[in-house]
Amino acid sequence: MPLVPAARLLQHAQQNSYAVPGFNFHNMVDLQAIISAAEAEEAPVILMATEDTIRFVGFDYIQGLAAAAAKGSSIPFALHLDHGRDLDNIVKGIRHGFTSVMFDGSRLPFDENIRLTSWVSDVAHRAGVSVEAELGQIPGHEDNVSVSEKEAGMTDPALVAEFVEKTKVDALAVAIGTAHGLYKAEPKLDFDRLEAIRKETTVPLVLHGGTGVPDAAVKKAISLGICKMNVGTDLRLAYMTSIRTTLEEQEVRDPRVLLRIAREAVIEVARGKIRLCGASHQAGKI
Ligand code: 13P
Repeated sequence: MPLVPAARLLQHAQQNSYAVPGFNFHNMVDLQAIISAAEAEEAPVILMATEDTIRFVGFDYIQGLAAAAAKGSSIPFALHLDHGRDLDNIVKGIRHGFTSVMFDGSRLPFDENIRLTSWVSDVAHRAGVSVEAELGQIPGHEDNVSVSEKEAGMTDPALVAEFVEKTKVDALAVAIGTAHGLYKAEPKLDFDRLEAIRKETTVPLVLHGGTGVPDAAVKKAISLGICKMNVGTDLRLAYMTSIRTTLEEQEVRDPRVLLRIAREAVIEVARGKIRLCGASHQAGKI
């Protein structure tokens, strides 16, 4: 199945009250794991590369890997540039087969965030590519994006309608109490804020920082309008823990042995997140 724009997946999720998991990948092994998990669960997924991953893997390799995945797979999935801050990278992503791009202007003044996000929407939409933006600032560390607790700010519902209307984005990342990376204490999500945001717009809403959010909170957030949940750290932990444990327990001389075990570990965690999002068995209905 060819890659699809994320907007198509998110609209289906919104109409059917589930969320599409957006999974960060870092190389071929975890990309394959995400696709295998999606196939096993018959679920749509969004493969996400940050600018750090793009620097590590390269646009051409990512394009080739996604094309190979699409050729061999029957599930609909999107290739998304996560937290793009460099406009040059966003344009290159569009030229290299990404079907969705996020412009993260969350650290910019409101009007500047609108101006640059609108520019990205204009360029991306002409190529049939979906756009995600961020309003408010999500704290924590995600590759090249680091936001301290002090800088972070929750999304102001009063700004949402104007932002979405002027930028014409297909999805909006909201800051409602989640953070990138591992939590020091259980996160408390501001559901009243999410409800207030939902009243201001019908655009699909995105929850970043999916790692470590209690299952009940994820389900409630989905019931209140979250249509995409981003997960990075949990997959990375599964990958690295598997490698460390295997090396401690076995004398492995073949990287394929090590990486095959790591891939299985990532598949297990990704399948659990897909089920949590309610995305299982939705692929055939899109
Ligand atoms: P986690 O790494 O906390 O799961 O967050 C991922 C994310 O939000 C990517 O944009």
